[in-house]
Amino acid sequence: MSDPEPTPRKRLLILGGTAEGAEIARKACARFAGRIHVISSLAGRRPSLPDLPGEVRVGGFGGAEGLEQYLRAESIDWVIDATHPFAETISDHAYDACLRADVPRIMLVRAPWRIPSDGAWVEVADSRRAAEILPTLAKRAFLTTGVGELDAFSRVTGVRFLVRLMDRPSAPLPLADCTLVVGRPPFTLENERALFREHRIDILVTKHSGGAGTEAKIKAAMELGVRILLIRRPPKPPGESAASADEVIAWLARRL
Ligand SMILES: NC(=O)c1ccc[n+]([C@@H]2O[C@H](COP(=O)([O-])OP(=O)(O)OC[C@H]3O[C@@H](n4cnc5c(N)ncnc54)[C@H](OP(=O)(O)O)[C@@H]3O)[C@@H](O)[C@H]2O)c1
Repeated sequence: MSDPEPTPRKRLLILGGTAEGAEIARKACARFAGRIHVISSLAGRRPSLPDLPGEVRVGGFGGAEGLEQYLRAESIDWVIDATHPFAETISDHAYDACLRADVPRIMLVRAPWRIPSDGAWVEVADSRRAAEILPTLAKRAFLTTGVGELDAFSRVTGVRFLVRLMDRPSAPLPLADCTLVVGRPPFTLENERALFREHRIDILVTKHSGGAGTEAKIKAAMELGVRILLIRRPPKPPGESAASADEVIAWLARRL
């Protein structure tokens, strides 16, 4: 009698580009080895690729239609949307594409930072609005909004910027008065305190990304009495969500 056919492996697509996406890929490969084929998808914005287990694909899909075609062509069984809270477009596309291709999807939604309601913080809808009100609030800003948002601040006058980016930029920054620091999370509270003090920061400008790896800057700002200018998160599309990589792994385990 011949051996039974091996059960085909399920195929998982992780939309990543985040620490959580990488954590899910590592945990899924370890826990479901031989049962799930893990594909991590990255936009390809960074100059180097992270070291991830499983298959890695890089670059856009060509909109929601392109993603739908990919899901069908690659026989994807499940999609994990572990993209950044501000990566609005890809999350919307994942919602549409999964609905049309009838592929179950779950989003990992980072816990927001704990900011006391009586703390010295101001919330705005986007970077453009943050740039408008910034000169009325402070003189020395720590800007951690990411390279894609810097143009919004290019016409701000009377504010000295400390800009932190994950990678060294390939072009000069579009800000007249700025100092650049390059670094990747997680950052320690000591590190953040030292930066605030060294550069005499009087406001922190940040997207409300949430998550533990970047929370130290919020703690340092509150501890030192530095104001926080928060850019509100865009809304997430509807659907199932999880708060951690472990919850996503449990979701997968229930479906296997
Ligand atoms: N926005 C942030 O502040 C931020 C911070 C840290 C990390 N990231 C990560 O960086 C990536 C890009 O962020 P973004 O804000 O530019 O995204 P976005 O505005 O939501 O997406 C723009 C386009 O980039 C492509 N794309 C985005 N994420 C992709 C992924 N994981 N795999 C394949 N294609 C992807 C898609 O192109 P097509 O339409 O051609 O499919 C999408 O329409 C995301 O993966 C995100 O997790 C973003």
